[in-house]
Amino acid sequence: MIGNAAHRAPDSVRMAAPARLTPYGLRCEHRETPLGVGEPRPLLSWRLASARVGDDPVAYELEVGGWSSGRVADPAAIGAVYGGPPLLPRTRYVWRVTVWAEDGTEGSAESWFETGQDVWRASWIAHDPRAVDHMDPPVEGDQALGHHGLLPCPQLRTSFENTAPVTGARLFISAKGLYEARVNGHRAGDAELAPGWTDYRRRIQYQVHDVTSALLDGENVLAVTLADGWWSGFVGFEPRSPGYHYGRFPELIAELHLTFEDGSTRVVATGDGWRTGHGEVRYGDLLKGECHDARAETAGWDLPGFDDSSWRPAVVTGDDHSLLVASRDEPVRALGELLPVSSTLIGPGVHLVDFGQNIAGRVRLTVRDQEPGRRVTVRHGETLDGEDRLHTANLRTADATDVLITAGGAEEVFEPRFTYHGFRYAEVSGLDRLDDIRAVVLHSDTPPVGTFECSDPEINRLYENIGWGQRGNFVSVPTDCPQRDERLGWLADAQVFLPTACFNADVSGFFSKWMRDVLDAQSSEGGFSNVAPLLSGVADEGAPGWADAGVLVPWHLYRVYGDDRFLDVDAMARWVDFVAGNNPDLIWRHRTGPHFADWLAPGPATPREVLATAFFHRSAALTAEAARVRGRHDEAERLGKLAARIRAAFAAAFVGDGGLVEGDTQTGYLLALAFDLLTPEQSRGAAARLAALVEESGPLTGFLGVNLLCPVLSAHGRDDLAHALLRRTDPPSWLYQVRHGATTVWERWDGVGAASMNSFNHYAFGSIGEWLYSGVAGIDQAPGSIAFEELVIRPLPGDLSRASASYESARGLISVSWRNDGEGFHLRALVPPGATATVHLPGGDTRRVSSGEHTFELVRGEKS
Ligand code: BGC
Repeated sequence: MIGNAAHRAPDSVRMAAPARLTPYGLRCEHRETPLGVGEPRPLLSWRLASARVGDDPVAYELEVGGWSSGRVADPAAIGAVYGGPPLLPRTRYVWRVTVWAEDGTEGSAESWFETGQDVWRASWIAHDPRAVDHMDPPVEGDQALGHHGLLPCPQLRTSFENTAPVTGARLFISAKGLYEARVNGHRAGDAELAPGWTDYRRRIQYQVHDVTSALLDGENVLAVTLADGWWSGFVGFEPRSPGYHYGRFPELIAELHLTFEDGSTRVVATGDGWRTGHGEVRYGDLLKGECHDARAETAGWDLPGFDDSSWRPAVVTGDDHSLLVASRDEPVRALGELLPVSSTLIGPGVHLVDFGQNIAGRVRLTVRDQEPGRRVTVRHGETLDGEDRLHTANLRTADATDVLITAGGAEEVFEPRFTYHGFRYAEVSGLDRLDDIRAVVLHSDTPPVGTFECSDPEINRLYENIGWGQRGNFVSVPTDCPQRDERLGWLADAQVFLPTACFNADVSGFFSKWMRDVLDAQSSEGGFSNVAPLLSGVADEGAPGWADAGVLVPWHLYRVYGDDRFLDVDAMARWVDFVAGNNPDLIWRHRTGPHFADWLAPGPATPREVLATAFFHRSAALTAEAARVRGRHDEAERLGKLAARIRAAFAAAFVGDGGLVEGDTQTGYLLALAFDLLTPEQSRGAAARLAALVEESGPLTGFLGVNLLCPVLSAHGRDDLAHALLRRTDPPSWLYQVRHGATTVWERWDGVGAASMNSFNHYAFGSIGEWLYSGVAGIDQAPGSIAFEELVIRPLPGDLSRASASYESARGLISVSWRNDGEGFHLRALVPPGATATVHLPGGDTRRVSSGEHTFELVRGEKS
């Protein structure tokens, strides 16, 4: 891999611990040095490190601009909400945190953030939509492509004069559709597929780019290309023509705020006076692909000196700023590149390129010495068919085809900008030879925070596959898959995978944004949806386990990051009350929407009401907890009672002697055990029955049980069985996929099924990743612990000879590494400052330890 960013190790893993207590990893609203923070009282947070054992914090002080929190005694603090005077818009605030240790030593660190927009003055503008009919005809041959009514990507530009040197320039920008902005020919920022996907009928995120270095004396040009994106392109399941889920053509809004040497300011905004035209991007669509006719490139259109008098005036489409909000997440970025592992000529001018890894992204192709008008086509696929040709049936109607029509010349570089594909293979046709081709990895920028490695190379490959699945499916929203005509933010997929995702990467900002999408999609009656962002034409009444993500996701985020603002108790309670209102006997059976059951379970179906009522109880119990955390005690009591009544109803309806759960399925037992629906005695019976079922047939869960399988088995003393499942190679199993060449996690356990529903990059079954960290390596937090303040370090070696994992938690670095050899068991554990840990050694010995590094040796035959 080149520019290995997609695989980079967490910062702290490369860093030696400082000699004394020191804050590091400073974040504002879960992001490092963000531009355009919209929150009036942002959360400022930090991690802690120290080389000393027991070097815990006792107090902190925050200084932001001229404001100070004063010294606050708080041994658990890893963040605090800004409490000073109102922040000014579009302003940089430098902030510092100082932390004191028990012995009086102090450490501090500095960072900054910039606030966002207050009042917009720009108007929305577009290429004249009525002019579309009179536009240049599609280039020769385009009709044959069948571009499904997709229109050329509009270019919009304005120019302005600077008479004094610029000391600061920030571009505040968004689009209905996708934008790519340039200042004097330089790309503004590095966001891809911006402004990202939200339900644009409710909320449109804007980004802020620092473009200071691109500004010139004299004439300057702000130039933007727009594309349909999720706004007006193909989204979800769309066979023939775009569904126009949000709008019919793209629009732009932008303000460039300039500060000059003498302190004066100026704003260049979209509105009257902008000009529009078209260039080489004949269409760009997320599902269909992108076509560049390099012959139509308008040289210099984004530079000063260009004569745009033949361009049309842009049309002002409106002045409504009410839906514009600051971004909460880091954008999608190009975060790595792959060179081919092989390239084969499979026909005249047709090359099959294997990148060796299934990814989400696109290809960058360099062609040399071509005549003008040569048509080069790049098709994408995840797998090959029986004849070693690209298999595209599982893409359904996503063409995933990019086209370059060459302008001719020494060298041309083609990289689409407004599409992405899920692929490992690319088929390039129209070239006698391939000069330079590489795959560009795209995903939401979620900093890596976890590592895992063990003595079994196949498990290590599984771990890698899980990480690639996460990268390929965290593209602005958590999607089910990146390749076919779907790519939707399905709530259950996100919910079951979230614990794994949190160990792999810092997803706090990403999910802070997506939880807004989930709330935006909540119905006025309180129903959470199946997908978020919502779009027309997709089943929106939430199914059990899908809609419940509206409760399960924020609760998990709160536990991992310690930010109780994730807990929107009102929204959560409205969901619970909605289900209760429709099901007065508290068995969840009444609904009007779809029921996806235990999706893709290969075994006997878990009865729907068992599954639904288990989730109903889980949502009610967690909402009661959330209310307690937020100080809503009456609500906590009310919901706690409701949860107890649901539990009783579940027991009466579905739990039999000895803990038998109606349906007698693995997922039925898993949900009942994990969601605390059984008495201790019933639990023993249920766990034994679960173990027997697992021993009999291997894993038979679908999406809703799979994440619980190994954690529940090991919690009930059957880590031997959890390990046996992990290492099993017959289908259904994780290693079956690995043995069959998987480089991501498959939608179906065995990868066999109708092509139309057979994605090779679906992360739900990858939710085993959590147990690799928490079970095999042994990094977990105690029940009731928040932000890893109280660790449980309980390695489960099975018959592995070693494992190690590290996790850059919200509090600081946690790491565990163990070796189980002929001489005994050796364990090293690092506990971050402010945390304590209970270490469970194999054989039953338990130790309480403070922060710092600890080693344990269990010599064979003795305890130590
Ligand atoms: C998606 C799933 C999703 C499901 C709902 C499928 O088409 O790919 O991942 O959760 O629909 O059952």
